[in-house]
Amino acid sequence: MSKKNLVIFSGAGVSAESGLKTFRDAGGLWEEFKIEDVATPEAWAKDPALVNNFYNLRRKQVMEALPNEAHKIIATLSNTFNIKIITQNIDDLHERAGSKDVLHLHGEIMKVRSSVDEKLISKLNKWEVKMGDRCEKGSQLRPHIVWFGEMVPEMDNAILIAEKADLFVVIGTSLNVYPAAGILNYVPQTALKWLIDPGEFNLDYVANLKHIKAVASEGMKIFKEQLQAVKL
Ligand code: APR
Repeated sequence: MSKKNLVIFSGAGVSAESGLKTFRDAGGLWEEFKIEDVATPEAWAKDPALVNNFYNLRRKQVMEALPNEAHKIIATLSNTFNIKIITQNIDDLHERAGSKDVLHLHGEIMKVRSSVDEKLISKLNKWEVKMGDRCEKGSQLRPHIVWFGEMVPEMDNAILIAEKADLFVVIGTSLNVYPAAGILNYVPQTALKWLIDPGEFNLDYVANLKHIKAVASEGMKIFKEQLQAVKL
């Protein structure tokens, strides 16, 4: 029998137990920094050094972090399912835990790109990008990140994945940022859905959704137990 399609839609909460801060929780990144200072094209135009420094710090922390139990459990689910991960996270912890099929909606911190040609993307193996580090066309390298106010180029691909889900798990996201948060609208009504997050949500309008109110590692364990009762 062919494997069912399991889609994981993750946000910053899945990496919280790895020591990476979320954005909107108390003590989150957007309390410490203003979005308009560090995460918009206007910020980059006004003060690229400040923006570059912000992402250098993010990259350093990501390189120092390790995948946690939640990333690891997700990776093992490929034995049972045709699993695809749609993540809003810019870290590479899903990949380092062993997941293969990861779509990054908001870019990747371990990549940089030309600021004049968005197709000129390169991988990094160090945390620091210096002002003056240039692409082959001579422009300053910018983080390969989707900033507020920019298009989300992978959104169409994410929708195609969501539309084919038999099971759909939302984990560790406040569902505040669009278009990403709208992905639930594309998941079939009939698909079984879980939300794994310690926060409060009002998602009564979503059919077949169970809320596992727990942190990511604990929540993934409970999810695995609940899978035993699902006829696959
Ligand atoms: N395990 C699981 N979930 C957690 C944990 C944890 N240990 N700790 C916090 N959370 C949950 C919070 O309850 C919240 O619902 O993670 C969510 C984090 O929400 P946000 O900080 O808003 O992060 P996210 O939803 O990923 O943000 C979306 O916003 O700033 C942008 O581009 C950035 O991709 C990001 C996007």
